[in-house]
Order: sequence, then structure tokens, then C-alpha cells
Amino acid sequence: MNIIIASDYEDMSRKAADVIAAQVKAHPNCVLGLATGSTPIGLYADLVSDCKEGSISFSGITSFNLDEYRGLEGTHDQSYRYFMNTNLFDHVDIDKNATHVPDGSNPDSDAACADYEKMIAAAGGVDLQLLGLGHNGHVGFNEPADYFPVDTHIVDLTESTIQANSRLFDSIDDVPRQAYTMGIGTIMKARQILVVANGADKAQIVHDVLFGPVVPQVPASVLQLHPNVTFIVDSEAGSKIKDKL
Ligand code: GLP
Repeated sequence: MNIIIASDYEDMSRKAADVIAAQVKAHPNCVLGLATGSTPIGLYADLVSDCKEGSISFSGITSFNLDEYRGLEGTHDQSYRYFMNTNLFDHVDIDKNATHVPDGSNPDSDAACADYEKMIAAAGGVDLQLLGLGHNGHVGFNEPADYFPVDTHIVDLTESTIQANSRLFDSIDDVPRQAYTMGIGTIMKARQILVVANGADKAQIVHDVLFGPVVPQVPASVLQLHPNVTFIVDSEAGSKIKDKL
């Protein structure tokens, strides 16, 4: 496990963007696993700058996003497809047909999830998976549970996640109650994993994920068992681990 405490959000974003840029340069046809949330917005902006300056190209990249709200079309401004288009895909030279987000508009949850797993496998699996961290330790939309869900599946969002994500919707009633997400098994199959977290409100969960027991009640704790994980956190999110490194 490689743990880096960056000085601030900008530094965290640049360092994380550098990990992704290095992967894209070394393997221009690789498969990236991508994440949404407010945490990666800065690193996506850095990757857009890198691409505009010509130092990296996404033209051969295939991508798979972690999750999507069930019931939202990709044109909805709170869908994760819309987020990815506006924060990254619209501004770089990636082939949009090679970008994948679970199909939130497919009401057949079994088909939506099984198709997604098949597409990831057909692409050869994920080379580098980017993850943010929920306050309760969720990754993608894998909420605390009594077991680690394996494959892409449908989830009922917890009240705390609905509450946290309601800031982005007009009202809490507009937040979808379900989502499709890669499973913990899907995520753990990625050959390399990059986790980003920032802010004082993530300090405790960063500590628990890295130094607590590996339990499904803290889904991201399973990352302790992955052979190639890099955590990049800002100084606030790293405040409870800095004395342990
Ligand atoms: C959301 C997403 C996660 C994201 C997390 C943290 O619910 N499903 O993929 O990592 O919450 O979001 P943020 O970066 O805004 O704190």
C-alpha cells in the first residue's frame, strides 16, 4: 500500500492526475476505471489540461465508471454519465463509444448489471481503477453491509448517502433511491487502484479504511488486501494517519 499525504486539494489532484497520466502514457490502449463525486473534479481538470497541452492522449483509452443512479437518463444533469461528459470526456480526445457507465435508464436491473460485467471482461478488465471514498467507507455505491458484494449489482442507497448527495439535487426527494454499482469483486479485480480523499470530514474514514479491521461494514477496508493500491489524500483527510506512516 502506497500512502501519500498531499499538502492540499490542488496537490492531491495533481499527484493523482500524474498517476493516471503515467498509466495513459505507458499504456495508451489501457482500460481506466473512473469515479464521480466532488473529490476527482480537480484531477479531471488537470487531465484535461494535460490533454490540451498535448502531453497525453485518451484516443486509445477505454473507460468504465463505477456506478450510476438507477432511473436517470445520461442527459440528466445529476447522472454520472452527464458528470463524466462535462468534467472529462467532452474536453479530451477520448472516443465516447469507448466510455462506459452502467445504464441507469435500463429498468431491468439484472440485465443492466450482467451486461456491464460482461463488457468489462470483454475489454480485458480494468488496468487502473480510480476511487473516491464515501463518509461511511463506501466505494462506488457499495454501502456498508454484512458481506462484500461481488459483481455489478443494484443497491438501495443508505439515508446518509442520500443525504450527502442531496446537495447536488434541487431537493432530497429528487435523489434516486437506488443505483447500479460495480461490486467489490469487480473493483478488486482491477490491476491497480488509486484512491483519493480530501477534507477534514474524511479524516476518520481514511484512518478506519487504512488501519481498521477489514470488514464489509467499512467496504473500502477490503483495499488493504489488494496488492497494488495508492492512496492520495490531502493534509486534512490525512490528519489521523500522519503519525502512523
Ligand atoms: C458518491 C459516489 C462515490 C463517491 C462518493 C464520495 O456517493 N457514488 O463513487 O466516491 O460518494 O463523493 P465525494 O467525492 O463527493 O465526497
